[in-house]
Amino acid sequence: MSTLKIAVIGAGSISSAHLNSYAKNPDVELVAICDLVEERARRAADQYGARKVYTDYRELLADSEIEAVSICTWNNTHVEISIAALDAGKHVLVEKPMSTDIGKALELQEAVKRSGKKLQVGFVRRYSGSAKVLKQFIDAGDLGDIYYAKASILRRLGNPGGWFSDRDRSGGGPLMDIGVHIIDLCWYMMGRPKVKSVSGNTYHKLGNRSNIQNLSFYQAADYDASKNTVEDLANALIRFENGASLFVDVSFTLHQKNTVSSVNIYGDKGGAEIEPDFVIATEKHNTILNIQPQIDYTGFHFEEGFQNEINHFVNCCLGRAELISPVEDGLEITKILCGIYESSVKGEEVHF
Ligand SMILES: NC(=O)c1ccc[n+]([C@@H]2O[C@H](COP(=O)([O-])OP(=O)(O)OC[C@H]3O[C@@H](n4cnc5c(N)ncnc54)[C@H](O)[C@@H]3O)[C@@H](O)[C@H]2O)c1
Repeated sequence: MSTLKIAVIGAGSISSAHLNSYAKNPDVELVAICDLVEERARRAADQYGARKVYTDYRELLADSEIEAVSICTWNNTHVEISIAALDAGKHVLVEKPMSTDIGKALELQEAVKRSGKKLQVGFVRRYSGSAKVLKQFIDAGDLGDIYYAKASILRRLGNPGGWFSDRDRSGGGPLMDIGVHIIDLCWYMMGRPKVKSVSGNTYHKLGNRSNIQNLSFYQAADYDASKNTVEDLANALIRFENGASLFVDVSFTLHQKNTVSSVNIYGDKGGAEIEPDFVIATEKHNTILNIQPQIDYTGFHFEEGFQNEINHFVNCCLGRAELISPVEDGLEITKILCGIYESSVKGEEVHF
Protein backbone atom coordinates (compact mmCIF):
# COMPACT_ATOMS: atom_id res chain seq x y z
CA MET A 1 0.00 0.00 0.00
CA SER A 2 1.26 3.51 -0.81
CA THR A 3 2.43 5.80 1.98
CA LEU A 4 1.43 9.41 2.60
CA LYS A 5 4.29 11.81 1.90
CA ILE A 6 4.45 14.37 4.67
CA ALA A 7 6.29 17.64 5.37
CA VAL A 8 6.42 19.63 8.60
CA ILE A 9 6.57 23.44 8.44
CA GLY A 10 7.98 25.02 11.61
CA ALA A 11 10.58 22.95 13.50
CA GLY A 12 10.25 24.38 17.03
CA SER A 13 8.99 22.78 20.26
CA ILE A 14 5.66 21.31 19.18
CA SER A 15 6.97 19.97 15.88
CA SER A 16 8.64 17.15 17.82
CA ALA A 17 5.20 15.91 18.95
CA HIS A 18 4.11 15.80 15.27
CA LEU A 19 7.39 14.25 14.11
CA ASN A 20 7.45 11.57 16.83
CA SER A 21 3.88 10.60 15.95
CA TYR A 22 4.49 10.53 12.19
CA ALA A 23 7.58 8.39 12.85
CA LYS A 24 5.38 5.83 14.62
CA ASN A 25 2.74 5.74 11.86
CA PRO A 26 3.57 3.00 9.32
CA ASP A 27 1.55 4.71 6.55
CA VAL A 28 3.72 7.83 6.52
CA GLU A 29 6.92 8.82 4.80
CA LEU A 30 8.43 12.02 6.19
CA VAL A 31 9.88 13.85 3.18
CA ALA A 32 10.74 17.42 4.18
CA ILE A 33 11.08 19.91 7.01
CA CYS A 34 10.97 23.69 6.74
CA ASP A 35 11.92 26.40 9.22
CA LEU A 36 12.99 30.02 8.88
CA VAL A 37 16.04 28.91 10.87
CA GLU A 38 17.80 26.48 8.52
CA GLU A 39 19.86 24.89 11.30
CA ARG A 40 16.67 24.01 13.21
CA ALA A 41 15.09 22.41 10.13
CA ARG A 42 18.26 20.50 9.32
CA ARG A 43 18.62 19.16 12.85
CA ALA A 44 15.05 17.81 12.80
CA ALA A 45 15.52 16.40 9.28
CA ASP A 46 18.64 14.52 10.42
CA GLN A 47 16.91 13.23 13.55
CA TYR A 48 13.76 12.03 11.78
CA GLY A 49 15.26 11.01 8.45
CA ALA A 50 13.67 13.64 6.17
CA ARG A 51 15.41 13.91 2.80
CA LYS A 52 14.73 17.60 2.12
CA VAL A 53 15.16 20.86 4.04
CA TYR A 54 13.58 24.21 3.18
CA THR A 55 13.66 27.69 4.70
CA ASP A 56 10.86 29.09 2.49
CA TYR A 57 7.53 27.28 2.84
CA ARG A 58 6.52 28.37 -0.69
CA GLU A 59 9.38 26.35 -2.15
CA LEU A 60 8.34 23.36 -0.05
CA LEU A 61 4.75 23.66 -1.29
CA ALA A 62 5.97 23.69 -4.92
CA ASP A 63 7.44 20.22 -4.32
CA SER A 64 4.95 17.92 -6.05
CA GLU A 65 6.12 14.88 -4.10
CA ILE A 66 4.63 16.25 -0.85
CA GLU A 67 0.97 15.31 -0.25
CA ALA A 68 0.26 16.72 3.21
CA VAL A 69 1.76 19.17 5.69
CA SER A 70 1.73 19.86 9.41
CA ILE A 71 1.88 23.60 10.13
CA CYS A 72 3.68 24.23 13.44
CA THR A 73 4.63 27.90 13.02
CA TRP A 74 3.69 31.07 14.94
CA ASN A 75 -0.05 31.71 15.19
CA ASN A 76 -0.08 34.73 12.86
CA THR A 77 1.18 32.58 9.94
CA HIS A 78 -1.30 29.69 10.22
CA VAL A 79 -3.93 30.98 7.77
CA GLU A 80 -1.49 32.25 5.14
CA ILE A 81 0.50 28.99 5.05
CA SER A 82 -2.66 26.83 5.20
CA ILE A 83 -4.25 28.61 2.22
CA ALA A 84 -1.04 28.37 0.20
CA ALA A 85 -0.76 24.66 1.04
CA LEU A 86 -4.37 23.90 0.07
CA ASP A 87 -4.01 25.87 -3.18
CA ALA A 88 -0.88 23.81 -3.88
CA GLY A 89 -2.98 20.65 -3.52
CA LYS A 90 -1.75 19.53 -0.08
CA HIS A 91 -3.80 18.29 2.86
CA VAL A 92 -3.23 20.38 5.99
CA LEU A 93 -2.97 19.75 9.73
CA VAL A 94 -2.73 23.22 11.27
CA GLU A 95 -1.81 23.83 14.90
CA LYS A 96 -4.16 25.74 17.19
CA PRO A 97 -5.31 28.46 17.12
CA MET A 98 -6.34 27.98 13.48
CA SER A 99 -6.67 31.75 13.07
CA THR A 100 -6.43 34.88 15.19
CA ASP A 101 -8.87 36.76 12.97
CA ILE A 102 -12.46 35.96 11.89
CA GLY A 103 -12.09 37.36 8.34
CA LYS A 104 -8.98 35.27 7.76
CA ALA A 105 -10.72 32.18 9.16
CA LEU A 106 -13.51 32.70 6.60
CA GLU A 107 -10.92 32.99 3.80
CA LEU A 108 -9.42 29.71 4.95
CA GLN A 109 -12.83 28.05 4.93
CA GLU A 110 -13.23 29.19 1.31
CA ALA A 111 -9.81 27.78 0.42
CA VAL A 112 -10.75 24.39 1.89
CA LYS A 113 -13.94 24.35 -0.21
CA ARG A 114 -12.24 25.30 -3.48
CA SER A 115 -9.29 22.93 -3.00
CA GLY A 116 -11.28 19.84 -2.06
CA LYS A 117 -8.38 18.96 0.27
CA LYS A 118 -8.62 18.02 3.96
CA LEU A 119 -7.86 20.53 6.70
CA GLN A 120 -7.69 19.27 10.27
CA VAL A 121 -7.34 21.76 13.12
CA GLY A 122 -4.93 20.65 15.86
CA PHE A 123 -7.45 20.61 18.70
CA VAL A 124 -5.40 17.86 20.29
CA ARG A 125 -7.46 17.51 23.48
CA ARG A 126 -10.35 16.10 21.44
CA TYR A 127 -8.08 13.21 20.49
CA SER A 128 -7.14 12.04 23.99
CA GLY A 129 -8.39 8.61 25.06
CA SER A 130 -10.48 10.11 27.87
CA ALA A 131 -12.13 12.62 25.49
CA LYS A 132 -13.02 9.79 23.10
CA VAL A 133 -14.59 7.74 25.88
CA LEU A 134 -16.55 10.71 27.21
CA LYS A 135 -17.81 11.56 23.71
CA GLN A 136 -19.17 8.01 23.40
CA PHE A 137 -21.10 8.45 26.66
CA ILE A 138 -22.43 11.84 25.55
CA ASP A 139 -23.44 10.57 22.09
CA ALA A 140 -25.31 7.69 23.76
CA GLY A 141 -27.28 10.26 25.79
CA ASP A 142 -25.84 9.25 29.18
CA LEU A 143 -25.26 12.87 30.24
CA GLY A 144 -28.54 14.14 28.74
CA ASP A 145 -28.70 17.74 27.60
CA ILE A 146 -25.44 19.56 28.40
CA TYR A 147 -26.30 23.09 29.48
CA TYR A 148 -23.22 24.33 31.29
CA ALA A 149 -19.44 23.98 31.16
CA LYS A 150 -16.69 25.52 33.21
CA ALA A 151 -13.03 25.47 32.27
CA SER A 152 -10.00 26.97 33.92
CA ILE A 153 -6.23 26.87 33.50
CA LEU A 154 -4.66 29.35 35.89
CA ARG A 155 -0.88 29.40 35.80
CA ARG A 156 0.60 31.32 38.68
CA LEU A 157 3.89 31.85 36.81
CA GLY A 158 4.13 30.82 33.18
CA ASN A 159 4.39 33.48 30.50
CA PRO A 160 6.69 31.71 28.01
CA GLY A 161 7.90 34.99 26.44
CA GLY A 162 9.34 35.05 22.90
CA TRP A 163 6.67 35.04 20.20
CA PHE A 164 4.04 33.83 22.74
CA SER A 165 4.16 37.25 24.43
CA ASP A 166 4.36 39.24 21.17
CA ARG A 167 0.74 39.95 20.28
CA ASP A 168 1.60 40.56 16.61
CA ARG A 169 2.77 36.96 16.22
CA SER A 170 0.62 35.15 18.80
CA GLY A 171 -2.66 37.07 18.46
CA GLY A 172 -2.91 37.15 22.28
CA GLY A 173 -1.71 35.63 25.54
CA PRO A 174 -3.11 32.78 27.64
CA LEU A 175 -6.44 32.94 25.79
CA MET A 176 -4.82 32.14 22.41
CA ASP A 177 -2.31 29.70 23.86
CA ILE A 178 -4.18 27.62 26.44
CA GLY A 179 -7.71 29.04 26.51
CA VAL A 180 -8.26 27.81 22.96
CA HIS A 181 -7.75 24.18 24.06
CA ILE A 182 -10.24 24.15 26.91
CA ILE A 183 -12.84 26.32 25.17
CA ASP A 184 -12.72 23.94 22.23
CA LEU A 185 -12.89 20.83 24.40
CA CYS A 186 -15.99 22.08 26.24
CA TRP A 187 -17.64 23.31 23.04
CA TYR A 188 -17.02 19.96 21.31
CA MET A 189 -18.45 18.01 24.25
CA MET A 190 -21.45 20.38 24.38
CA GLY A 191 -22.35 19.33 20.83
CA ARG A 192 -20.77 22.30 18.99
CA PRO A 193 -23.62 24.80 19.59
CA LYS A 194 -23.66 28.11 17.65
CA VAL A 195 -22.24 30.97 19.69
CA LYS A 196 -24.76 33.72 20.43
CA SER A 197 -22.81 36.22 22.55
CA VAL A 198 -19.60 36.64 24.48
CA SER A 199 -18.77 38.75 27.51
CA GLY A 200 -15.05 38.83 28.24
CA ASN A 201 -12.41 40.61 30.27
CA THR A 202 -8.65 40.68 29.79
CA TYR A 203 -6.16 42.09 32.27
CA HIS A 204 -2.60 43.34 31.92
CA LYS A 205 -1.91 43.74 35.62
CA LEU A 206 1.15 41.66 36.48
CA GLY A 207 3.18 41.68 33.24
CA ASN A 208 5.41 38.63 32.71
CA ARG A 209 6.81 38.69 36.30
CA SER A 210 10.34 38.15 35.04
CA ASN A 211 11.43 39.54 38.42
CA ILE A 212 10.52 36.25 40.16
CA GLN A 213 13.49 34.22 41.33
CA ASN A 214 13.88 30.67 42.70
CA LEU A 215 10.97 29.30 40.64
CA SER A 216 11.50 28.04 37.09
CA PHE A 217 9.04 27.96 34.20
CA TYR A 218 9.06 27.18 30.47
CA GLN A 219 10.67 29.93 28.42
CA ALA A 220 10.58 30.18 24.61
CA ALA A 221 13.91 29.96 22.78
CA ASP A 222 13.83 33.72 22.09
CA TYR A 223 12.72 34.71 25.63
CA ASP A 224 13.31 38.42 26.25
CA ALA A 225 12.19 39.64 29.67
CA SER A 226 11.71 43.20 28.38
CA LYS A 227 9.10 42.24 25.76
CA ASN A 228 5.48 41.45 26.63
CA THR A 229 2.37 42.79 24.88
CA VAL A 230 -0.18 40.12 25.87
CA GLU A 231 -2.74 39.86 28.66
CA ASP A 232 -1.87 37.96 31.81
CA LEU A 233 -5.47 36.94 32.60
CA ALA A 234 -8.63 36.48 30.52
CA ASN A 235 -12.10 35.37 31.54
CA ALA A 236 -15.37 35.03 29.65
CA LEU A 237 -18.97 33.95 29.77
CA ILE A 238 -20.05 32.51 26.42
CA ARG A 239 -23.74 32.05 25.61
CA PHE A 240 -24.92 29.66 22.89
CA GLU A 241 -28.05 29.75 20.73
CA ASN A 242 -29.37 26.57 22.41
CA GLY A 243 -29.31 28.31 25.81
CA ALA A 244 -26.18 26.57 27.09
CA SER A 245 -23.32 28.61 28.57
CA LEU A 246 -19.59 28.24 29.16
CA PHE A 247 -17.49 30.05 31.73
CA VAL A 248 -13.73 30.11 31.22
CA ASP A 249 -10.69 31.73 32.80
CA VAL A 250 -7.03 31.39 31.88
CA SER A 251 -3.83 33.05 33.03
CA PHE A 252 -0.13 33.17 32.26
CA THR A 253 0.42 34.57 35.71
CA LEU A 254 -1.72 35.30 38.75
CA HIS A 255 -1.28 35.78 42.50
CA GLN A 256 -2.48 32.42 43.73
CA LYS A 257 -1.09 29.47 45.63
CA ASN A 258 -0.62 26.96 42.80
CA THR A 259 -1.19 26.45 39.11
CA VAL A 260 -4.61 24.84 38.70
CA SER A 261 -6.47 23.28 35.81
CA SER A 262 -10.04 22.00 35.65
CA VAL A 263 -12.54 21.27 32.89
CA ASN A 264 -16.13 20.28 33.74
CA ILE A 265 -19.31 19.80 31.76
CA TYR A 266 -22.81 19.51 33.21
CA GLY A 267 -25.84 17.83 31.68
CA ASP A 268 -29.34 17.14 33.02
CA LYS A 269 -28.63 13.39 33.36
CA GLY A 270 -24.97 13.54 34.34
CA GLY A 271 -21.83 15.61 34.40
CA ALA A 272 -18.15 14.96 33.81
CA GLU A 273 -14.91 16.21 35.18
CA ILE A 274 -12.56 15.95 32.20
CA GLU A 275 -9.50 17.48 33.86
CA PRO A 276 -7.55 17.02 35.99
CA ASP A 277 -8.99 13.48 36.25
CA PHE A 278 -11.79 11.94 34.20
CA VAL A 279 -14.85 11.15 36.35
CA ILE A 280 -18.53 10.94 35.41
CA ALA A 281 -21.02 12.19 38.03
CA THR A 282 -24.61 10.94 37.82
CA GLU A 283 -27.38 9.32 39.88
CA LYS A 284 -29.20 5.99 39.87
CA HIS A 285 -31.91 4.65 42.19
CA ASN A 286 -31.83 7.97 44.11
CA THR A 287 -28.13 7.60 44.82
CA ILE A 288 -25.40 9.84 43.50
CA LEU A 289 -22.64 7.97 41.69
CA ASN A 290 -19.12 9.10 40.80
CA ILE A 291 -18.04 6.75 38.03
CA GLN A 292 -14.33 6.34 37.36
CA PRO A 293 -13.72 4.92 33.87
CA GLN A 294 -10.87 2.42 33.89
CA ILE A 295 -8.69 3.60 31.00
CA ASP A 296 -4.95 3.98 30.39
CA TYR A 297 -4.82 7.74 31.04
CA THR A 298 -7.49 9.54 33.03
CA GLY A 299 -5.90 12.97 32.48
CA PHE A 300 -4.67 14.49 29.22
CA HIS A 301 -1.72 12.37 28.09
CA PHE A 302 0.47 14.33 25.70
CA GLU A 303 1.93 11.46 23.63
CA GLU A 304 -1.38 9.62 23.35
CA GLY A 305 -3.24 12.79 22.29
CA PHE A 306 -0.75 13.67 19.56
CA GLN A 307 -0.44 10.09 18.29
CA ASN A 308 -4.24 9.83 17.98
CA GLU A 309 -4.44 13.26 16.31
CA ILE A 310 -1.73 12.43 13.76
CA ASN A 311 -3.12 8.93 13.08
CA HIS A 312 -6.55 10.44 12.47
CA PHE A 313 -5.15 13.06 10.08
CA VAL A 314 -3.27 10.40 8.13
CA ASN A 315 -6.40 8.22 7.93
CA CYS A 316 -8.44 11.20 6.66
CA CYS A 317 -5.84 11.99 3.98
CA LEU A 318 -5.88 8.32 2.89
CA GLY A 319 -9.68 8.38 2.68
CA ARG A 320 -10.23 6.00 5.60
CA ALA A 321 -11.83 8.41 8.09
CA GLU A 322 -13.86 11.62 8.32
CA LEU A 323 -12.47 14.81 9.88
CA ILE A 324 -13.55 15.42 13.46
CA SER A 325 -11.92 18.87 13.83
CA PRO A 326 -12.66 20.56 10.47
CA VAL A 327 -12.25 24.20 9.40
CA GLU A 328 -15.85 25.01 10.39
CA ASP A 329 -14.97 24.21 14.02
CA GLY A 330 -11.82 26.33 13.78
CA LEU A 331 -13.99 29.22 12.54
CA GLU A 332 -16.48 28.95 15.42
CA ILE A 333 -13.65 28.87 17.99
CA THR A 334 -12.02 31.87 16.26
CA LYS A 335 -15.31 33.75 16.68
CA ILE A 336 -15.31 33.00 20.41
CA LEU A 337 -11.64 33.98 20.93
CA CYS A 338 -11.95 37.22 18.93
CA GLY A 339 -15.29 37.94 20.61
CA ILE A 340 -13.65 37.78 24.04
CA TYR A 341 -10.99 40.34 23.07
CA GLU A 342 -13.58 42.57 21.39
CA SER A 343 -15.88 42.41 24.41
CA SER A 344 -12.99 43.25 26.72
CA VAL A 345 -12.03 46.33 24.66
CA LYS A 346 -15.65 47.53 24.42
CA GLY A 347 -16.43 46.74 28.04
CA GLU A 348 -19.70 45.09 27.01
CA GLU A 349 -21.15 41.82 25.71
CA VAL A 350 -20.75 41.25 21.96
CA HIS A 351 -23.45 39.50 19.91
CA PHE A 352 -23.03 37.33 16.81
N1 LIG B 1 -1.33 21.58 20.45
C1 LIG B 1 -0.57 21.93 21.48
O1 LIG B 1 -0.71 21.42 22.60
C2 LIG B 1 0.48 22.98 21.25
C3 LIG B 1 1.51 23.14 22.19
C4 LIG B 1 2.48 24.11 21.93
C5 LIG B 1 2.40 24.90 20.80
N2 LIG B 1 1.37 24.73 19.91
C6 LIG B 1 1.24 25.57 18.72
O2 LIG B 1 2.26 25.21 17.81
C7 LIG B 1 2.74 26.37 17.12
C8 LIG B 1 4.24 26.48 17.32
O3 LIG B 1 4.53 26.57 18.71
P1 LIG B 1 5.97 26.15 19.29
O4 LIG B 1 5.82 26.05 20.77
O5 LIG B 1 6.51 24.98 18.54
O6 LIG B 1 6.82 27.46 18.94
P2 LIG B 1 8.39 27.54 18.62
O7 LIG B 1 8.75 28.96 18.70
O8 LIG B 1 9.13 26.55 19.45
O9 LIG B 1 8.49 27.04 17.09
C9 LIG B 1 7.93 27.74 16.01
C10 LIG B 1 8.86 27.57 14.83
O10 LIG B 1 8.20 28.08 13.66
C11 LIG B 1 9.20 28.70 12.85
N3 LIG B 1 8.51 29.58 11.92
C12 LIG B 1 7.79 30.68 12.18
N4 LIG B 1 7.28 31.21 11.06
C13 LIG B 1 7.69 30.42 10.04
C14 LIG B 1 7.51 30.43 8.64
N5 LIG B 1 6.79 31.39 8.03
N6 LIG B 1 8.08 29.45 7.90
C15 LIG B 1 8.81 28.47 8.50
N7 LIG B 1 9.02 28.42 9.82
C16 LIG B 1 8.47 29.36 10.59
C17 LIG B 1 10.10 29.38 13.85
O11 LIG B 1 11.36 29.70 13.29
C18 LIG B 1 10.17 28.34 14.97
O12 LIG B 1 11.26 27.46 14.80
C19 LIG B 1 1.94 27.55 17.70
O13 LIG B 1 0.88 27.85 16.85
C20 LIG B 1 1.42 27.04 19.02
O14 LIG B 1 0.20 27.64 19.39
C21 LIG B 1 0.43 23.77 20.13
